[in-house]
Amino acid sequence: MRSTTTEANRKLRASSKWGGEKLNMMISSIRRFMLTKVNTHVLAEILAFVKPYKKLAYFSLFVLVLSSLNLLVLPVSARYVMDYGFVHDIKNNVHYYIVFAILTTLSAISTAWRSYLVSWIGERVIADMRSKLFSKILSFDLNQFETLKIGEILSRLTTDTVVVQGTLSNSISMLIRNIIQIIGALSMMFLTSIYLSLVFLASVPLIFIPARIVVTRQRDLSKAGQDKVALSSSYAGETLFAIHIAQAFTHEPYDRQLFSESVETAFKAQLKRMRLRGILTVIVTVGITAGFLLVFWLGSYLVSQNPQVITQGQLLQFIAYAIILASAFVGMADIIGEVQKASGASERLVELLNLVPTITSNKEATKPQAPIKGAISFKDIDFSYPNRPHRQVISNVSIDIKPGQSVALVGHSGAGKSTLLQLLLRFYDVDKGLISIDGQPINMMPLDFLRGTISFVPQEVVIFSGSIFENILYGFPEATRDQVLNAGRMAMVSEFADDLQDGYDTLVGERGMRLSGGQRQRIAIARAFLRDTPILLLDEATSNLDAKNERLLQTSLKELMKGRTTIVIAHRLATVMQADQIIFMQHGHVLSRGKHDDLVVNCEKYKHLASLQFIDG
Ligand SMILES: Nc1ncnc2c1ncn2[C@@H]1O[C@H](COP(=O)(O)OP(=O)(O)OP(=O)(O)O)[C@@H](O)[C@H]1O
Ligand SMILES: [Mg+2]
Repeated sequence: MRSTTTEANRKLRASSKWGGEKLNMMISSIRRFMLTKVNTHVLAEILAFVKPYKKLAYFSLFVLVLSSLNLLVLPVSARYVMDYGFVHDIKNNVHYYIVFAILTTLSAISTAWRSYLVSWIGERVIADMRSKLFSKILSFDLNQFETLKIGEILSRLTTDTVVVQGTLSNSISMLIRNIIQIIGALSMMFLTSIYLSLVFLASVPLIFIPARIVVTRQRDLSKAGQDKVALSSSYAGETLFAIHIAQAFTHEPYDRQLFSESVETAFKAQLKRMRLRGILTVIVTVGITAGFLLVFWLGSYLVSQNPQVITQGQLLQFIAYAIILASAFVGMADIIGEVQKASGASERLVELLNLVPTITSNKEATKPQAPIKGAISFKDIDFSYPNRPHRQVISNVSIDIKPGQSVALVGHSGAGKSTLLQLLLRFYDVDKGLISIDGQPINMMPLDFLRGTISFVPQEVVIFSGSIFENILYGFPEATRDQVLNAGRMAMVSEFADDLQDGYDTLVGERGMRLSGGQRQRIAIARAFLRDTPILLLDEATSNLDAKNERLLQTSLKELMKGRTTIVIAHRLATVMQADQIIFMQHGHVLSRGKHDDLVVNCEKYKHLASLQFIDG
């Protein structure tokens, strides 16, 4: 639509010799006018969350209508109090007062009830939405996380949902209430006095048109403002996660400046929005007050001239309706602002909800009948990361691993070793070729089953806040305490855990900050011990340990590797010399393969690498 409008603009400008600019401006303001409408498909998706509570929603709508109607009868009751209540016979007019009191009470009760019901729905819906969103986010693949950025996802999960909640639990019901009140009050005003109504309404277009323009502009600013907020929180998140790096590099001044710049931009965007909102409120309020004064002035003149045409009570009634109408209008300006703010937030939420993960279980995927033995085959694999499609990082790699065998991947940094493990775990799908386990292609296995057969000790160990115990338990949450402690013993976690005051229950700090690199690695290995799966992947699992501890741990690892298919990645050849098969990789290719003794003889590069490491070699 945008492009056709621009095209139309161009033609129009070309066709008119004068006033092209003006025309252009007019077209763009018409376009803005049309874009003001709330995106209906987004609205539909948000409302889908209300569906489970449909009955309650209808009921609260009913209460809402009831309370609005109730408010609309009040002025009539007030008129009777005014016209018939001011007499000396106190007994005969008491019922006017009683009716008025009852109506007011009912109005208060129904308003409170409506407010409770609607808030309930809003809170409920947003709780559901958050859970659904989080569960959805967990299924995204790595590539999607790389593009989306964690900080931004978090901002959507927290800030945007709150904005939408505000709208659901308040703005929508206020919107409906105001519409009812505007229609009702307007009709009643005409019923009371056509003459005064016309006078009052004459002032409305003067308010409506400028208000409309301001509202449109406000909407654009609102989305821009929120995008900026998301961006700045994403930046803050990234910096804080690596605070020690920021401090070590004395990067704080730059961080401060960058952050305050993005905060400042967000502030300016919000400020502009608030200013427009202020203008809007002023326009509407001033316009309506002017209308009021006019009506009051003329009305009191009419009453004094000819009380048969309009009584004092009727004037009061008319004014009361005009107040209801005006407050509904003023409220409307606020609500439209809110709804627009929410519409930006909803768009981002729905975008996230509709994102389809590309790595999912195939529909025809089946679990293998027999228990997994652990034969792994990479056949003619080509792969490039989705974010760098033109740079192939794995080319024509074929590797066959028999059940229970151990295979070592060695080679220079960036050769593609870790990438191969990621492909086996199906963090990414291969571009060409086939990876299979026990003869079944891994993309034909349910994803959770595939990953369930693998224990993975990553190159960059991830520790969560919590205790050492909880961190090991992460590997297999159903394990007993004894099993966890046993795994800890095997992975030599006990070596340091037993010295700590709370032992395995010692808290490790966020991302395990209170542990050394080697200690974190041992916890990661303990997870693998606990997980007890037929396939084991170790990516530089012992690289942070000192030589003595590494050797000790190797003995346990050998125990762990028994009866499992293992792929080990290591730069230190000493740790992989015993492997059944060593694969030497270079630039994504397999350069040569074989046992250590063969490679030393057959592969120049391997020999060179070995001679660098075993000086006496
Ligand atoms: N997420 C990613 N997106 C794009 N390219 C990536 C990504 N991860 C790794 N690469 C690139 O893929 C290539 C292989 O990386 P990989 O991590 O597999 O190397 P490696 O052999 O494990 O190296 P190292 O021994 O340093 O761990 C590198 O050139 C790297 O830049
Ligand atoms: Mg690596």
